[in-house]
Amino acid sequence: MFVFSIVQQKGGVGKTTLAISIAAELRARGKKAVLIDADPQASAVAWASPRKLGFEVRAELVGGQTVSQWLRNVLKQQADFVIVDTPAGLGPAFRAAIDIADLVIIPCGPSSLDLNAARQTLSQVSSALRSDARSQARIVTIPTRVDVQHPEGQQIAEELSSFGEPVGPALSHDVYYVRSFSQGVAVTTAAPASPAAAEIRAVTDFLLRRLAERNGGHERNGG
Ligand SMILES: Nc1ncnc2c1ncn2[C@@H]1O[C@H](COP(=O)(O)OP(=O)(O)OP(=O)(O)O)[C@@H](O)[C@H]1O
Ligand SMILES: [Mg+2]
Repeated sequence: MFVFSIVQQKGGVGKTTLAISIAAELRARGKKAVLIDADPQASAVAWASPRKLGFEVRAELVGGQTVSQWLRNVLKQQADFVIVDTPAGLGPAFRAAIDIADLVIIPCGPSSLDLNAARQTLSQVSSALRSDARSQARIVTIPTRVDVQHPEGQQIAEELSSFGEPVGPALSHDVYYVRSFSQGVAVTTAAPASPAAAEIRAVTDFLLRRLAERNGGHERNGG
């Protein structure tokens, strides 16, 4: 089992949208994916409520239990991939999600505020991973809500890569992502032929490549 944790100190950058989309794409590739919603806002749980996603979304808040209990509950999932969606901020859910991650995914929106937040988030993630000698987790950043028609949109990936970690394919600012939420499905299901769906497939390819680069790509539980 592999754990992908999606974190960002800034709110509204597309964490939940990315979490649902990646889980759905892994599921479409025949993998068993479970999404852990560690956000008290429970956006992923709300997304899943029409029960059309085709994978499980479980609320598991870090707040109501000890962190070690939370880690045990997440790790006992029977899945090929666990995707952890976290609230904005650098609180206990952020820490716990990094502790457990094989891959830490930091989405970053297009504004300079977003870039500042991504820089700070990345520095917190790096120092948390450095302080855990056993961790083999890798970090990636993903530009989100990008207007690729404009030069500012194209600059984000460049600026993000100056932070020193691999930058994945960008997700455009696209109404398909918003619509898929109201339909209770992922964008790859709502509009499989859309550019947005192609972006999600490209991001998923990128994440799987980055995971494979980890030392030998060992799984947590061999299965
Ligand atoms: N690529 C995109 N293009 C257009 N709209 C998007 C995109 N990604 C997300 N959104 C919209 O932006 C809003 C915030 O997205 P989302 O809930 O995924 O962010 P978040 O980081 O999880 O927010 P929070 O910090 O509140 O948990 C939603 O209305 C969502 O539909
Ligand atoms: Mg969210």
